[in-house]
Amino acid sequence: WRAVSGRARTVLLAAPRSFCAGVERAIEIVERLLEEHGGPIYVRKQIVHNRHVVEDLETRGAVFVEELTEVPPGATVVFSAHGVSPAVRAEATARSLDTVDATCPLVTKVHAEARRFARRGDTVVLIGHAGHEEVDGTLGEAPDRTVLVETPADVAALPDLAQVSYLTQTTLAVDETAEVVAALLRRFPHARGPGSDDICYATTNRQRALSAIAADADLVLVVGSTNSSNSKRLVELASRTGVPAYLIDDAADLRPSWLSDVDTVALTAGASAPPPLVDEVVEVLRALGPVSVQERELARETIRFTLPGRVR
Ligand code: F3S
Repeated sequence: WRAVSGRARTVLLAAPRSFCAGVERAIEIVERLLEEHGGPIYVRKQIVHNRHVVEDLETRGAVFVEELTEVPPGATVVFSAHGVSPAVRAEATARSLDTVDATCPLVTKVHAEARRFARRGDTVVLIGHAGHEEVDGTLGEAPDRTVLVETPADVAALPDLAQVSYLTQTTLAVDETAEVVAALLRRFPHARGPGSDDICYATTNRQRALSAIAADADLVLVVGSTNSSNSKRLVELASRTGVPAYLIDDAADLRPSWLSDVDTVALTAGASAPPPLVDEVVEVLRALGPVSVQERELARETIRFTLPGRVR
């Protein structure tokens, strides 16, 4: 670290960054259940894709499981912010589990669209990343009528389809998704989309805020876990501007080699990363030399989602 110490640096803080309303709601649901009942409260999959959030809730009595078969009959289980397929809901009912749904309302909206589009006889083209939990849940609404694509090449490989509509995962890159949608509309000019964007406000805002500062920086740091889709999209977006960009879970992941010859650091965090982790990164940088922090706010987020009646 000595080699990169003593230099004055500027930190450009992207705003908005860090927690979105859906993540805050999901964490609060688990916290309230723990307060009400004590542990264990089971949670299917990570409540949000962040290691720190999961570890913190674990110490307070949350038990994270991959599948419902790991939950004892009659126990309380929370569905994560990413949503679940109808098959998972049915399995929970069959196992007499007490379920509390922490699915982000903006994911629930995409599920409703999938059902509506499939009901009118469309083939639903879902734009998203294979294997992501949100995608698995949305695909499960109409598995026989839904196809998943990630790229314009995937669109080109689709068979001819009579009646097409499309949806997207909520945490995709806005610019890349526009290219896939354009390819889809070239191939199927009558394809119908969602009423309003499926890429959520938080994903869009975090990408816009980082775009506004990345080019002014020598290094971009994104706080978030490696399985966080919206965090990974932020790193890719910054990399596309030609600036070295890294995803870090916390300040301990910082590497001295990243900081040599760096005067300006652009710093942001994905929607599932707790705000204090960003402050810790600033503190570590400050320990290396004088730091001037400039926040560049591109939008103000006031959106809040109401909690389910069960925990209100
Ligand atoms: Fe919901 Fe978007 Fe956050 S879908 S969980 S508001 S990243």
